Amino acid sequence: MRTYIKDLNKEIDKEVLVEAWVKVRRDQGKMIFLDLRDVSGVVQAVILPFHKEALEVSNALRTEWCVSINAKVNKRPEKNIKTDVQNGDIELEVLNINVLNESNTPPFDLTTDGLEVNEEVRLKYRYLDLRRERLSKTLKNRSKVQQFIRNYLIDNNNFTEVETPLLSAPTPEGSRSYVVPSRLWKDNFYSLPQSPQQYKQLLMVGGIERYFQFARCMRDEDTRGDRQPEFTQLDMELSFVSEEDIINLNEDLIIKTVEKFYPEKKIQQIPFPRMSYKEAMEKYGNDRPDIREDKNDSDLLAFLWVVDFPMFEKTSEDNLDGTGEWTFTHNPFSRPRDEYMNDFVEKKNIGNILTTQYDITLNGFEIGGGSLRNHKGDILRKTFEIMGYDKEKIDRMFGHMIEALDFGAPPHGGIAWGFDRFIMLMENEPNIREVIPFAKTGEGKDLMMNAPSGISDKQKKELGLKFEVKG
Ligand code: AMO
Repeated sequence: MRTYIKDLNKEIDKEVLVEAWVKVRRDQGKMIFLDLRDVSGVVQAVILPFHKEALEVSNALRTEWCVSINAKVNKRPEKNIKTDVQNGDIELEVLNINVLNESNTPPFDLTTDGLEVNEEVRLKYRYLDLRRERLSKTLKNRSKVQQFIRNYLIDNNNFTEVETPLLSAPTPEGSRSYVVPSRLWKDNFYSLPQSPQQYKQLLMVGGIERYFQFARCMRDEDTRGDRQPEFTQLDMELSFVSEEDIINLNEDLIIKTVEKFYPEKKIQQIPFPRMSYKEAMEKYGNDRPDIREDKNDSDLLAFLWVVDFPMFEKTSEDNLDGTGEWTFTHNPFSRPRDEYMNDFVEKKNIGNILTTQYDITLNGFEIGGGSLRNHKGDILRKTFEIMGYDKEKIDRMFGHMIEALDFGAPPHGGIAWGFDRFIMLMENEPNIREVIPFAKTGEGKDLMMNAPSGISDKQKKELGLKFEVKG
C-alpha cells in the first residue's frame, strides 16, 4: 500500500512504500540525500552506506526520475529538526529503490517559483512546469474553490448546473467568434460560444429558474495579461429576481469564498460599494477603477460594483455587430432601467438610455458582469431596431430568441464572473496564464500542442474548404 508524503508523519518507525519524483539529489560521498515529491508534498530521504543496493541505484538517479521506494520513517534527532518545512521532523531511511521511469534533464529548474524562466519555454513544457509547487498549489486551490461554489449554489441555493453546447451559432459579446467548418453542411459553420448567454436565457424559458455553469468561453481577440482566447466563466442566470437579489447573492458568495480560502485577505468595504459608470469615467478615466486605499497591500481586496452603464454607444469603424449608428455597450439582451423604458420603446434619446448592467471590479480588474434582460420578444426586438438591423436580419440572427421569449418567458437576469481573473487575484499571480493549466501565449499559440496548425489536404477536401495563398 502506497503512503502519500503528507501522511508519513503518522507512520514513524514503520516501513512504508512511497511513489514519487526525485526533486533534488545531493551526493555527499558516503551517503546520498534525496528530496522526494509527490502530489501531496515533499520529504527528505537518505541512503545510508550499508544499504548497498539502494546506494548503487541512487548513484544513477537524477532529478525528475520517477521512483518507488521502500523506506523506514525515522524521527529526526532534535538538533536536525526543521520547523519551517513540511516533514522537517522526519526523514526516510531508504531500504530499496525501484526506478519507475528515467527522465531527461528538464529544460528549466523546477524547484523555484518559475517566474524567472522564459515563459514560452515553460508553456512548451507545461507538463513539467505543473510539477512546480506554485502551479500545482494554484490548480488545487482553484479546484477547491470550484467545489465550494458548486456546493453553495446547488445545495444551499437551489441552482442546477447545466452544460451548454460548444458547437453553436454566434452569440455576440462584442468580440469575434471562432468558427468550425461543418463537414456535412458544406459552406456552413458552427460558432464556438463567446459565452453561454443565449442558452442560459433559454434555460430560463425552460423553467430551470436558477442555472449556473463553469463555462468555457472562446473569444477571438488579442490576448493580454488578463485575457485568454479560451477562458472560464462562473456563469449564472436566475428567474423572478431583481438586480439586488443577484448582487446580494454574488456578494455573499464572494465574501464566503474569501473567508474560507483566503483568510489572510481583507475586504476593504462590505457591502461592496457602488459607483456609476459616469462617476468612474469622470474620476478615474476608466470603468474598472482601482479604489484600494493602500495599493502596496497585496492582501487588500477592493471590490466595487459599477452600475448605470449607457445601453448604447455610437458605432465605431471596427465595431463587429452594428450596422447602424448605434450599438450595444455590453450585451444586446440587457434591459434598460425602468425610467428609460419609454424612451427605449419609442427609440428616443438613445444616447441617454441607461441599462440594468452591473460590472464587478476588483483592484482595477473587471472580474464579472451581468444584467437583467428584456424578457419580452417585442421589447428585445427594439434593441436590434435601434442598432439599425432590418426585420430580415433580426429574424435571421435572433428570431429564435424572440420566439422563445414569446412563450411566457419569466423576468430574468444573471451574471458571469471571469473565474480565471478571480483566481489570479486571489492567488496574487501576476497574470491569468499562471492559473490556467494549459494557457496560450500572448500571441494565442499553444506551444506544447503546436496549435493553431495547418490541416491535411484530405481534411480540407472533406470540409469543402479552399484556401487562397496571398502575397
Ligand atoms: P462579459 O463579456 O462581461 O459578460 O464576460 C464576463 C467576464 O468574463 C471575463 N472575461 C475574460 N476573462 C479572460 N479572458 C477573456 N478573453 C475574457 N473576456 C471576458 C471578465 C468579464 O467580466 N454573458 C455575459 C454575462 C452576463 O451578462 O450574464 C458576459 O459574457 O472578467
